[in-house]
Amino acid sequence: MGSVVVMGTQWGDEGKGKIVDYLAEQADVVVRYQGGNNAGHTVVVGGEEFKLHLLPSGILYNGKTCLIGNGVVIDPGVLLKEIKGVQARGIDTSGLKISNRAHVIMPYHRLLDEAEEIARGDFKIGTTKRGIGPCYMDKNSRCGIRIVDLMDAEEFALVLKRNIEAKNRLLKCMYDMDGFDYETVKAEYLAYAEQLRPYVADTSYELNESIDAGEKVLFEGAQATLLDLDHGTYPYVTSSHPIAGGVCVGAGIGPTKIGKVVGVVKAYTTRVGEGPFPSELHDAVGDHIRERGHEYGTTTGRPRRCGWLDARVVRYAGKLSGIDYMAITRLDILDEMKTLKICVGYTYKGQPLNEFPASLKVLAEVEPVYEELPGWQSDTTAIRRYEDLPLNARRYLERLSEAAEIKIGIVSVGPRRDQTMILHEMFA
Ligand code: IMP
Repeated sequence: MGSVVVMGTQWGDEGKGKIVDYLAEQADVVVRYQGGNNAGHTVVVGGEEFKLHLLPSGILYNGKTCLIGNGVVIDPGVLLKEIKGVQARGIDTSGLKISNRAHVIMPYHRLLDEAEEIARGDFKIGTTKRGIGPCYMDKNSRCGIRIVDLMDAEEFALVLKRNIEAKNRLLKCMYDMDGFDYETVKAEYLAYAEQLRPYVADTSYELNESIDAGEKVLFEGAQATLLDLDHGTYPYVTSSHPIAGGVCVGAGIGPTKIGKVVGVVKAYTTRVGEGPFPSELHDAVGDHIRERGHEYGTTTGRPRRCGWLDARVVRYAGKLSGIDYMAITRLDILDEMKTLKICVGYTYKGQPLNEFPASLKVLAEVEPVYEELPGWQSDTTAIRRYEDLPLNARRYLERLSEAAEIKIGIVSVGPRRDQTMILHEMFA
């Protein structure tokens, strides 16, 4: 079946953008199914770096259909800026379509995101402050504003009035903050509506038509398994469903339409924001990985917490999403390491843990079970065939594959498209 899901297996920032970009060349349609501009995908094409937040990475190939599904939350000002930004660099955006059912991020969502974080004090989540959580909250409270509502000036005026009154009361009473002026927000958003109108469509309908016509579809996940609202390290999670199951709801297709699932695994682990991270390094090794890997957030610029590769996390992701193959990224960042550790399991109070703990208290107290492996201490960035990788690099990858119980499908040794080894064709 010609559809492939690419999703993150860790806490995000695995390099999904590069893998999606690579596979997008073979796809006819590329689809975002969850999240919003909390995501940040860096893609390098012809020596030029593109940082995408909302646009599917497939946009960088002319002629692809790129869909932003109903499960995504859209900040119209940000999306329009991104569209204009890529257009100015010669990218054709005529294949872009955005779901009429996607929810709209409003200015009060952004302010509430900030206010709620301040109010959480020591228990803050470390959100990207893009209004993502509050927008999904409104969606679930059934008072949200969808793209279809924004396209209808009369309907928009009504729902905005109701929302702005409620949110202004909330901002004043709960956070002693000034609210928003109804007319100003209305005018700003109706101007966005006119610019977005040509892109609006029933993306689920179009996607199903494409699938029925035998087109190749690539689903592009944002964030990752341990940030999944249900299965991640709750409450230090995002508000959507990055796991492969999120595709069905967030793009509007049936599970039988998913062909292969590719889990992107960074060759080590990073996390931004708060919450437990069992294999975190607080020493010079962690600093070395952060500096060599430029591990600073694409969206917020925050330094990322770095740690050893945690195969227990990857195995959990594999089960939750039925991952067929791993795409392992950033192997080259480890090129200088003398020895490496892989976490292959956890113990809690001296006992091995089979399942991934739901309790954050337990997760914060688990002892990682490490295996130490020798490093390869040579440059892998010019290697193009898996067999040509140093033996110790292959041993490292194969131990991961064994411990995570997932086959290796792709290995990446640099940001460029050509720095990619394909062990299995995903669209075959
Ligand atoms: P939110 O998605 O802005 O609500 O943030 C919730 C949590 O998800 C925070 O810990 C963020 O740092 C994290 N997060 C959101 N988007 C990304 C991403 O694209 N990469 C890594 N972490 C993310």
